[in-house]
Amino acid sequence: MENSVLRQQIEAIREEIKENSKLLESSKHVYEQRKVFLDNKNGKISALMKEMKNIAAEDRAEYGKNVNELKQWALEQFDELDKKMKEKELKARYEREKQDVTEPPKMRYQGNLHPVTQMRETLIDIFEGMGFEIYEGTEIENDYYNFTALNTPADHPARDMQDTFYLSPEFLLRTQTSSGQIHVMENKKPPIKILSPGKVFRSDDDATHSPMFSQMEGLVVDKNVTLCDLKGALETFAQKIFGEGTTTRLRPSYFPFTEPSVEVDCSCFACGGKGCNLCKGTGWIEVLGAGVVNKKVLENCGIDSEEYSGFAFGIGIERATMLKYGINNIKLLYESDLDVLKQIDHYE
Ligand code: PHE
Repeated sequence: MENSVLRQQIEAIREEIKENSKLLESSKHVYEQRKVFLDNKNGKISALMKEMKNIAAEDRAEYGKNVNELKQWALEQFDELDKKMKEKELKARYEREKQDVTEPPKMRYQGNLHPVTQMRETLIDIFEGMGFEIYEGTEIENDYYNFTALNTPADHPARDMQDTFYLSPEFLLRTQTSSGQIHVMENKKPPIKILSPGKVFRSDDDATHSPMFSQMEGLVVDKNVTLCDLKGALETFAQKIFGEGTTTRLRPSYFPFTEPSVEVDCSCFACGGKGCNLCKGTGWIEVLGAGVVNKKVLENCGIDSEEYSGFAFGIGIERATMLKYGINNIKLLYESDLDVLKQIDHYE
C-alpha cells in the first residue's frame, strides 16, 4: 500500500476520534469509545497494528512509528476526557446530594393521645387539684354493687334507665361508675373524696350512644357537705373544661342513689347563652348527672347518715369530649380515623 494512503488512514482515525469525542457525555461513553479504538482484539487502532505484516519492509518502520504515535495520542485523549467526565459527574453528584444544614427541619406528625384519653386526663388533673383521689373499679360487677346497694333493688323501675348486659343472674358489665362509690364507702371512713374513671356498658347504640363508653364518677362524703359544695366543685370543672365564662345551673332530676338529684347544665360555650345549634336554642347544655348522696346508700355502707352527708356526680367522658370539640357522632371517637383524631390535641 502506498505510504500516503497509510498516512491518510491513520489521520482518518485521528479525525474520527476527535469528532466522536465531541459527542461524549459521560465517563461510561468514554470507556465505550476507548474500546472502539483501543481494544486489543477489536479496536480500530489495534487493527492498524495488525496490518504491519502487509506493509512493505522499507515502510514498516515509519508506519509502526505513526501508528504508535496515534495510539499514544488516543490514550492521552481518552485519559483526559475520562478525567473531565469524572470531575463533571462528581460535581453533579455533590450538587444532587447537597444538604442545606440551615434548612428548618420538616415537621413530622408526632402522634397524640386519643381525645377520650385527653379528656379523661384533663378531668383527673382538675379534680386532683381539688384533692380528689383516684379509685378504679372493675368492669365486671355484681348486681349488688351496680344496683342494689345504690338503692336500686331488683324490682325497682329505675333499672330500666340502663339497659344492662348480664353475664349471669348475679354478674353484669357495670352500667355506671357509681358502683365504685359503694366499694370506696365500704372500705374507707369519711372524709372521702374520690374520682373513679372507667369504662361502662349499656345495650344502647345510636349517634350519641355506644354500647361501651367511659364515665368519671366523683364522690365526696364528709360532715356538712351540701348541694352548694357540689355546685361549687362542678362550676370550677365547667370553667376549666369549657372556658372561664361558663356558668352552671342545676335542674331537678331523678337517680335512686341521690336525693335530691340534679342534671347539671352549662351555659352554652359556643354562643355564650344566646341560643345556637349546639344548645338547640336554649342557651344551656346538659353535661352530667349528680346529687346529694341518698341516706340509704350511706347506711348501706355503714356510714352514719346523721353525722355525714355527701355529693356524687357522673360525667360521660365521650359526651364531654364531643361537646368540647363539636363532634356530632360518638362513632368518630372509636373508628381510629387518624384524620379525625389528629385534629384534637389539647396539649398542643
Ligand atoms: N350514674 C349516673 C348515670 O350513669 C350518673 C350519676 C352519678 C348521677 C352520680 C348522680 C350521681 O346516669
